[in-house]
Amino acid sequence: MRGVVLAGGLGTRLFPLTKVTNKHLLPVYDKPMIYYPIEALTNAGIKEVMVVTGGNNAGDFLRLLGNGKDFGLNRIHYAYQEGEGGIAEALSLAEAFAEGRPICVVLGDNIIEKNIIEAVGAYKAQGGGARILLKEVPDPERFGVPAFDGKKIIRIEEKPKDPKSNYAVIGIYMFDSRVFDIIGGLKPSQRGELEITDVNNAYIEAGTMEWSTLDGWWTDAGTIESLLRASNMVENTGANKIG
Ligand code: DAU
Repeated sequence: MRGVVLAGGLGTRLFPLTKVTNKHLLPVYDKPMIYYPIEALTNAGIKEVMVVTGGNNAGDFLRLLGNGKDFGLNRIHYAYQEGEGGIAEALSLAEAFAEGRPICVVLGDNIIEKNIIEAVGAYKAQGGGARILLKEVPDPERFGVPAFDGKKIIRIEEKPKDPKSNYAVIGIYMFDSRVFDIIGGLKPSQRGELEITDVNNAYIEAGTMEWSTLDGWWTDAGTIESLLRASNMVENTGANKIG
């Protein structure tokens, strides 16, 4: 399985912090934000990672991460997203890198306390399709939210005004190689983006989506409030813990 970290986008919700740098290079407690999603992947035994970035500061990722040796990676691959066409558009740039293998995708602003080892194991055992991770949250309307029929997810709604559950779909996704065909068939949403939620709904419609719940805390770090919260949570408990 190969790993993909999506670190494009303009980070407008963090302006002016992101006026002269990329959001994923900002500090979260004692490390640049991008370190956390990379470590989430390496903790799960993934050794080949692609970082998709964009904007004016893409070269800084190379200076910061180099060839990935410091993370124990075999190599880091890079791709450049022009503009901000959405999470699924950024992911489409990883098609050649994936070489038909399954991938684990982590959004560059997602930070977890523990690890995804169990979920990755469950994905490998399910034999194809997709797997998402869910976390119960007090503010589901900020995220992708699953609607259930019993234990089965029947649909995911992106930032719904009237959430059908208290779960957020966190920014860690496992997909088989079909994901790139699905993205190829997507149309931009009302906000002009190719949405990862539309990708997930395609797997749900095909009956090939499974889910796990995440153990330990999870946060994004894409707003001023959540960036501060992320730093405080990392300071208090640490992140990417094994065991
Ligand atoms: O954090 C989890 C949530 O992330 C999910 O619950 C939502 O379903 C999902 O749509 C996403 O929501 P956000 O609105 O928080 O996504 P955001 O636009 O902040 O993008 C998250 C990361 O994705 C960002 O840190 C970098 C990457 N990204 C995003 C866009 C729009 C790209 O690489 N390229 C892009 O064009």
